[in-house]
Amino acid sequence: MNADSNRALPSSIAPGQPITALAPMQDVTTLPFMSVVADIGSPDYFFTEYFRVHVQSRLEKHILEAITENRSGRPVFAQMIGENLEHLKRTTLELLQHDVAGIDLNMGCPAPTVYKKRCGGGLLRDPEKVDRILGALRETIPGLFTVKMRIGFENTENFQRILHLVNKHEIDLLSLHGRTVKEMYRSQVRYERIKQAVETVNCPVLANGDVSSAARAREILEYTGASGVMIGRHAIRNPWIFRQIREFESTGKTSPIKLSEVYRYIRNLYDALAKPWIPERARVNKMKKFLNFIGQGIDPEGRFLHEARRAQNEIDLFAICDRYMLSSPLDFFADEPYQGIIARPNCE
Ligand SMILES: Cc1cc2nc3c(=O)[nH]c(=O)nc-3n(C[C@H](O)[C@H](O)[C@H](O)COP(=O)(O)O)c2cc1C
Repeated sequence: MNADSNRALPSSIAPGQPITALAPMQDVTTLPFMSVVADIGSPDYFFTEYFRVHVQSRLEKHILEAITENRSGRPVFAQMIGENLEHLKRTTLELLQHDVAGIDLNMGCPAPTVYKKRCGGGLLRDPEKVDRILGALRETIPGLFTVKMRIGFENTENFQRILHLVNKHEIDLLSLHGRTVKEMYRSQVRYERIKQAVETVNCPVLANGDVSSAARAREILEYTGASGVMIGRHAIRNPWIFRQIREFESTGKTSPIKLSEVYRYIRNLYDALAKPWIPERARVNKMKKFLNFIGQGIDPEGRFLHEARRAQNEIDLFAICDRYMLSSPLDFFADEPYQGIIARPNCE
């Protein structure tokens, strides 16, 4: 962050329109993925996956490169997860040596190994601790300090109190996933809690959770009054979603995405991820993680995904992609995921 940085949020691609952000996702929002998404239609903001902070932690190189090698022209916020004040401050100062748009604190991760250490979503059980951490980091960060959190741990009893702490410590942007930690990923998102946050906090709020299409984003924005949306899994499936939101906001419709474009997306992602030292089998397996989501928009029966999950090598994989996306009578990618095709997120 530059010494002359101030506390204004970076400008968006389409001024006057809602802010869009790609949600941080561990092992997904790496430099290659961000670059591919940026080429398709960038969100306004990127967030890194979280830097783990503890006594022995050092900035993880592969996460740092999403900041130092960022050529998207869009700002990247660096996310941290941790609970130790001294080391959170140390890590913040290290991150501020780089070109970060701001520092983001994770208060939502539902992985038991994380929350049992009182980090991530575990912090939501302890508002006094949140108060201390936000206070210490606010003092350390001259520029933008943002928070990403859920609406509670097991229930929402601390929610309003934590929203007041967001105000007390002058947080600059709140990204809110409308589920509790215990609700993980699949329950109904409680947009009424996002609305409550918008009505309580002084900073802009990004609505997060199941923002599945541009039309859905409009409904969520209208209901919650949020300043923008943060999109995770649906942006893996449909990285055009940010561009589509801008289009929908100005014209009320979106241009359909051809399956041949989806093929190109898969090819570009594979090439971007394919480090020469990674064996082919591992590359194909890595790609399957993304295909889990992309497959939800290819065919209603989930046959593509069924076959792709069994591909053993690059040739098999792209032969399957070719059959479903280049030589198929199906022309267009679905705007909303086909029902009943389940992707398997494994972490937050
Ligand atoms: C594979 C995966 C990894 C994630 N990693 C992170 C992370 O590092 N930091 C974080 O704050 N949230 C993480 N999340 C949560 C997402 O940022 C987001 O809050 C959640 O997926 C809900 O939004 P969505 O419905 O748009 O996916 C992760 C989610 C998934 C599926």
